[in-house]
Amino acid sequence: NTMLSWQRTAYHFQPEKNWMNDPNGPMYYKGWYHFFYQYNPNGAVWGDIVWGHAVSKDLIHWLHLPLAMVADQWYDMNGVWTGSATILPDGQVIMLYTGSTNESVQVQNLAYPANLSDPLLINWVKYSGNPVLHPPPGIDSQDFRDPTTAWYTSDGKWNIAIGSKVNKTGITLIYSTEDFKNFELSDGVLYSFPGTGMWECVDFYPVSNTSIKGLDTSVKGPGVKHVIKTSLDQDRNDYYTLGTYDEKTGKWVPDNTTIGLGLRYDYGMFYASKSFYDLHKGRRVLWGWIQESDSEIADVKKGWASVQSIPRTVLLDTKTGTNLLQWPVEEVDSLRLTSKVFDKVEVKAGSVVPLDVGTATQVDIVAEFELDKEALERTAQTNVEFSCSTSGGAAERGALGPFGLLVLADESLNEHTPVYFYIAKGTDGNLTTFFCADQTRSSEATDVDKKIYGSTIPILKDEKLSVRLLVDHSIIESFAQGGRTCITSRVYPTKAIYGAARIFLFNNATEASVTSSLKIWQMNSAFIRPFRPEQDN
Ligand code: FRU
Repeated sequence: NTMLSWQRTAYHFQPEKNWMNDPNGPMYYKGWYHFFYQYNPNGAVWGDIVWGHAVSKDLIHWLHLPLAMVADQWYDMNGVWTGSATILPDGQVIMLYTGSTNESVQVQNLAYPANLSDPLLINWVKYSGNPVLHPPPGIDSQDFRDPTTAWYTSDGKWNIAIGSKVNKTGITLIYSTEDFKNFELSDGVLYSFPGTGMWECVDFYPVSNTSIKGLDTSVKGPGVKHVIKTSLDQDRNDYYTLGTYDEKTGKWVPDNTTIGLGLRYDYGMFYASKSFYDLHKGRRVLWGWIQESDSEIADVKKGWASVQSIPRTVLLDTKTGTNLLQWPVEEVDSLRLTSKVFDKVEVKAGSVVPLDVGTATQVDIVAEFELDKEALERTAQTNVEFSCSTSGGAAERGALGPFGLLVLADESLNEHTPVYFYIAKGTDGNLTTFFCADQTRSSEATDVDKKIYGSTIPILKDEKLSVRLLVDHSIIESFAQGGRTCITSRVYPTKAIYGAARIFLFNNATEASVTSSLKIWQMNSAFIRPFRPEQDN
């Protein structure tokens, strides 16, 4: 169906057709990045799940390979579900994944490449002794899934984490193993949180306190923090918490116990994410599943559903020490074509300024904003109770915001998606900054989600407000302050498409004018297509 074809992205990873969900088993192997994913070969809705597979040299251009694993055993008959890769020091590749059995019991299975000398890892073998793990006593048969990458401990064993729940408490179970065939359940849990329900796709990894290098999953010691991420089935969001891990006792202690389950990787559409250590470039890379937010009927009509985020490097934000920084992998910059620079554009309170870059369906935008200092000082207390999601969005005016960009906007602004800052001033003079994205007017279609996303964002002394936006037809990935707060918007314009999509600056503050400097690149399309050995070799 070509009716909705403009919604297809041009440089985000997608299969040619049908349904996709979680990223699975990402890794770098013999010169190739491997990406596996939850895939329904039979339609554009969830079901009949198998493992899709693609490879890339740069995380941007992809070749689709044959399915890596299909549902051909009693222990994965109802689905070859999410899993993770571990590369052992001797070069072996271990893939652990969840199978939904013929009786819909969730078990963990082992698979490995049939031929380790094939850099494309086309064929996979399922271990004859599968399943290697059954739900332990006290755990419901349908609450036991998504094994992590393994990390090595000083007792000479590998550990993995598996998400679960007990009553309404989300938990992370830990198993240890020497051979990935026999496992022992550890005492206690790595982490748990009451009222959070089933924990899907747990991720557990180290980040450095001192360096901008990523860390391999087994790294420990001083200068290292450990991140636990969980995907909450009940609200479909990914939460992470920073903490300290003592691998000798197996205990992980959160840094801050007052932030609930923690922060979100992304305040928009971003779920079931998974990171891996990229030994090629010495970085940790994060993949996230970007779901649709239109109707299932629309997905069936267009014949596909979901995309993956542009892979992001993840680092500890050493300036704040309290959050991660996520940033699109540097390779995405290779898609940049012509650019246009706008220097110190003044955007008066209550105005909209068009930015003439021509077509703006595939763009990379880097922008800085400075608020008029006098207005900032002059302004007495503002609405400190502000919250992006319960506000009136970009139309709700305050003294010091909202201001930012309108993207995927048509000329007459019938459709547009604002991505913006909003500043609140307390009676004590302290400022709180919010970073939001408003989908209320993103589309004239009625069967699509029109939420307002966002969160507060830490702004340090003397920092300018900055944002980067990757716009790709029906997706806007937004990164504020170098990736301190991220928002992915999935939008479905009907008018602001192809040549009709424009970019504007806006400032809906009542008091302060804003100055903005920007650079905007047109983005090339990525090469994402099936591997045909006769032509590609
Ligand atoms: C998360 C999830 C996983 C499961 C997989 C099934 O989106 O529900 O918990 O393994 O998807 O497709």
